Amino acid sequence: KKILIINGPNLNFLGIREKGIYGNDDYNSVCKYIKEKYENEDVKIDILQSNSEGKIIDFLQSAYFNEVDGIVINPGAYTHYSYAIFDAIKSVSIPTVEVHLSNIDEREEFRKISVTAPACIAQIYGKGKDGYVEAVELLLER
Ligand code: DQA
Repeated sequence: KKILIINGPNLNFLGIREKGIYGNDDYNSVCKYIKEKYENEDVKIDILQSNSEGKIIDFLQSAYFNEVDGIVINPGAYTHYSYAIFDAIKSVSIPTVEVHLSNIDEREEFRKISVTAPACIAQIYGKGKDGYVEAVELLLER
């Protein structure tokens, strides 16, 4: 099975940005943590990151052409206003799980709304890096 994990803007700044909210682990160690979980399993995990909306849409479309089985996406702040990413998730018709490291329900008002989640089969938040693992598990169970 092939799973693609897509991380949006500022997630490459993990370990630097707002550590009280996002933790001390840097981006590469979070990626390593997820990949190591599946080292000995028959599943291929790719992780991509971009700060730009168009690139994220290109990643989603590439998942279609590469016949990816499931997508995990943390669209960062695009979560709260990108109808283009909502459309792209719908367009590729690949089961997608939305993940947020922080508890978006207990922060600023604008974070409570996700315009991308309705295109996804599930949304996981507030569980830190383990949220990504939970999302992969959910996709593999299908
Ligand atoms: C985030 C939550 C978003 O509101 C924020 O803009 C991010 C990270 C999270 O993983 O908790 O960049 O998606």
